[in-house]
Formats: sequence, C-alpha cells, structure tokens
Amino acid sequence: MHKMMVLVEASAPDPLRFCGSWMPPNLPPHVLPAVVEDLQTFRFRPDDILIVTSPKSGTHWAFETAALIKADGVWENVKRDTLKNHLEFTLLNKESYDKSVPLIMFYKELDKMPSPRIMFTHLPHELLPPGVFEVNAKIIYTARNPKDVLASLYKFIGLTPDAKFVTWEMLYSSFFTEYFMYGPWHRHVLSFWKLRNDKNVLFLKYEDMKKHPSKIVTQIAEFIDHPISDDVRDEIVKKTTMDQMKKEMKRLEETLEDGYIFSKAFGKLSYFQKGVIGDWKNFFTVAQNEEFDKQLEERLGETGLEFDYE
Ligand code: A3P
Repeated sequence: MHKMMVLVEASAPDPLRFCGSWMPPNLPPHVLPAVVEDLQTFRFRPDDILIVTSPKSGTHWAFETAALIKADGVWENVKRDTLKNHLEFTLLNKESYDKSVPLIMFYKELDKMPSPRIMFTHLPHELLPPGVFEVNAKIIYTARNPKDVLASLYKFIGLTPDAKFVTWEMLYSSFFTEYFMYGPWHRHVLSFWKLRNDKNVLFLKYEDMKKHPSKIVTQIAEFIDHPISDDVRDEIVKKTTMDQMKKEMKRLEETLEDGYIFSKAFGKLSYFQKGVIGDWKNFFTVAQNEEFDKQLEERLGETGLEFDYE
C-alpha cells in the first residue's frame, strides 16, 4: 500500500456539527461552515435544476449545456441574471483571492433570482440543503473518471498560490479520505449513483458527454422537460465543445461587467482547460496507478459504477 494512503477513512460527517465550532477538514477555505449551515434552510423550488458534482468533473460544462437547452441553443438568451450560480461560494471580486474584500453570499443572490433557476454545487449528499429533495427539484449529477479528476484538480491547484503547499502525492493520498475536498471522492459519487434511478436525478458521466454528446444533450433536454429539435440539439453540441465554450466565456468576460465570474474561479483561474480524457497518464506513476486501481476496486467493485479512462 502507498505510504500516504493511511489517512482517515471516515463515515459521513454529521451536518449538525456545523452548528458548533468544529471545522470540517474537507471544505475549501472559500466555503464557510456558517454558509453550509445556513444553506440547510435554503428554499428550493420545484422547477429548480441543481447540478451536483465532486470538483473537476464537468460542472461548468453541464451547467452551460443545461442553460443552452433552456435558451434553445442561443448563447445570448442564456439567463445570466445572477452573479453566479454556485450555491455555497462566497468569493466575488477579482481581488478576493489576494486581498481582504467583503464577501458576497451567492445563495442570497440566488434566493432572489426568478425561476427557472439553474444552480450548481459541490456539496456532498449529506450536506445538501434538504429542500432540494422535499420539493422534487431536478438534480443533474456529473461524475468523471477519478484519475482525470485528480489530475485536473492538481493542475488547477497548481495555478494558485496554494501550489507550494499541495504536492501531487498529498492530493493523490487524500482522494479516498475525509481530507479530500468535499469529502472522500467515492462517497460523493456513490451517494448519487445509488439515486440514479430516481426520477428527479440524472446521473451523467463526463466521458459519455465527450463521446456521445448528441445523446447526452437529448437526455438532459428530456430530463429538464425542455424538448428541442434535432437542429437545436446539433447546435448545442457544437457550442459546448471546448473551443466554442472558451470563445463564449471570452465573450462574456469582454461584454459583461462581471463576466469573469462565470468562467473563472477567484476571478483568475479558468474552469476551461484541456478537457480531454486520459490526461491522468501524465501524472500517475506506474506504481500509483496500480495501487489506485486496487483502492478503486475495493470501493466501486460491487457497485456497478465504471468509467472510461481513455
Ligand atoms: P481539465 O482540467 O482536465 O481540462 P469543473 O467545471 O467541474 O471545474 O471541471 C473542469 C474540467 O472540465 C476541466 O478539465 C475543464 O477543462 C473541463 N471542461 C470544461 N468544459 C468542457 C467542455 N466543454 N468539454 C470538455 N471538458 C470541459
């Protein structure tokens, strides 16, 4: 076994512990426990769409696809009437990452947003606002092969000042533990894999979005009850390729005052990078890959959940 793979393997945290001073180890610094606690009473609406992912699994891609479907394939008609649709985030200004600036709670903006809303979150099942299940809002869960998730996250962190504190080995070793961002990856994904046949849950895989885009766009349109013609479907497939998406994000940045909020974390780091299957091969050693496969088999083996790795 890899030396670092001995960190805590924990059961689901008790959300109520957020009421005390306990600081969960797995929320990133820009997600405040007080916000997660407050979100427990967030008012969902039956026509809400919530995209749920473990980070780096295609959150923004799924969001833009669903938004384009609602806008019948026209970028200019995508509703961008709130600052940002990420439920638990608080950062806003471009300077937030470096300087102390007032925080804006995105969920308070989302609370005022007219329906229909499309929002997204990385919160694990056990910390999701219960209202989302009570009103039967629609949940689109996007999962990605875990090796590419790790590689993508590592590349992303590498662009931040945190890079000097987070080594590849640290991140790799934390993946199945309570120390991984938003909780152990397998717990996050499996909690929604179990719900995949629920009529209000659509479980998607990043690799299928990449390999069978027409099918996935149709599936999303049906799921969110917004039928589209074949022409519109084809248009959306074209627009949600990596290159076209980057172009659109650039347009937003140039034309909207706060356009960068839709495309960049902390106002600086693009959510749209390489967008390929298999980049993990540039990061895993042979030994890490073998050990990871064993770890994965132990956790996913019996569940029927499988991924494409190239
Ligand atoms: P890479 O870092 O591997 O390039 P999230 O939105 O959950 O943060 O996920 C980010 C990952 O999704 C990044 O992966 C990003 O490049 C990829 N991505 C974003 N838009 C995409 C698209 N239209 N097609 C394919 N991948 C996309």
